[in-house]
Amino acid sequence: MERELALEFVRVTEAAALATGRFMGRGDKIAADKAAVEAMRMAFDTVYVDGVVVIGEGEMDEAPMLYIGEKVGAGTPPQVDVAVDPLEGTNLVAKGLPNALAVLAVAPRGGLLHAPDLYMDKIAVGPRAKGCINLDASVEENVKQVAKALNKRVEDIVAIILDRPRHESVISELRRLGARVKLISDGDVSAAIATAFERTGVDILFGIGGAPEGVLAAAALKCLGGEIQGRLIPEDDEDRDRIISMGLKEPEQLLLMDDLVKEDDVIFAASGITDGDFLQGVRYSGNTATTHSIVMRSITGTVRFIKAAHRLDLKPHYIARGFSANQEGR
Ligand code: FBP
Repeated sequence: MERELALEFVRVTEAAALATGRFMGRGDKIAADKAAVEAMRMAFDTVYVDGVVVIGEGEMDEAPMLYIGEKVGAGTPPQVDVAVDPLEGTNLVAKGLPNALAVLAVAPRGGLLHAPDLYMDKIAVGPRAKGCINLDASVEENVKQVAKALNKRVEDIVAIILDRPRHESVISELRRLGARVKLISDGDVSAAIATAFERTGVDILFGIGGAPEGVLAAAALKCLGGEIQGRLIPEDDEDRDRIISMGLKEPEQLLLMDDLVKEDDVIFAASGITDGDFLQGVRYSGNTATTHSIVMRSITGTVRFIKAAHRLDLKPHYIARGFSANQEGR
C-alpha cells in the first residue's frame, strides 16, 4: 500500500471523531455511534482504494452502513481489507469518559482475520515485553516475565483490564501478586495500545473483550512492535461453524499476531474523541474544531501524531445531523 494512503485514512477517522465528538456526555450512545458511522462512511468514498469491510458494524441485515462485506473507497486499486470501529467506546462518549476513539485498520486483501462478533480472551504488551507473554500461561507467569523484560518489580507493573464480573479471578490474582491494576469501564483497543507507550504507565493488558477490537488492537501493535495474543470464545456450535467458515482451523485455537494480521503491510489510524491516554479528544470552538490522531504503518514502523484544525463551515458534511457549524447561541 502506498504510504500516502496513511494520510487519507486519518481523514476518515478525523471525520468520525468530528461528527461524534458533539455527543460527548449527552447520554445517547446510539446517536453518537450513528454520527460516527455516517461520517466515516462518507469520508471513505474519497479514498483511492478498492476496500471491503471485514470488521465493521455487523452483518448486512443489521447494519445500514459499514456492514461486513460492504465495498468502501473509490473502487480503484489497491484491493484492501478494511476493519473499522467508527466509535470504539460508545458508553465512553455517552458519559464523557476518557479514551473513546474512531479507529480503522487496512491491509492488502486477505490480510486481516475476519473475526466474528464474539468475545476474545486477550493478552497484550508493548515492544519491550514482546515475546514474553503467553495466553496459555498463568497470570503470575505472564506478570513475572513482563516485569523481568521491563526491568521492574512485580509491584511496579500496571495491568489494565475491563471492569467486568467475568474478570474477578484475574483481578484477584493480580492483586494477590501485588501488581497495580487499572480497571476500565470500556475501550480495550485504547488499553492495548497504551501498553506500547511508556508515558501511559500501562504495562500489560489482560481480559476478555470484543474479537473485532482484538484484530484492531493487533493491527496497532504490529505497527508499534508490541504483541497481542487472543482466543475466540464461541458460545455454541453455530459460533464454532462461523469461526471455521471465516478461515480458522480450530475455533478455539491460540491466535498469534500473524493469525490476527496476516500481512506485514498494515496501516492503522485512530482519532481521539474524548481525551485519552495517548490522544486528546476533539475540541470545538466556534467555527473551528481540532482533532488529534495517530497513524502508523507496520512496514516502516513510523508512528505519526497529527493535530489538525478543521474549519467547520467548510466541512458541513462532517457535522452530525442536528448540529450547526457554529454552536454558539444554541
Ligand atoms: P462499544 O464501542 O461497542 O460500546 O465497545 C466498547 C467495548 O468496551 C470494547 O472496547 C470491548 O472490547 C467490549 O466493549 C467489551 O464488551 P462488553 O461491554 O460486552 O464487556
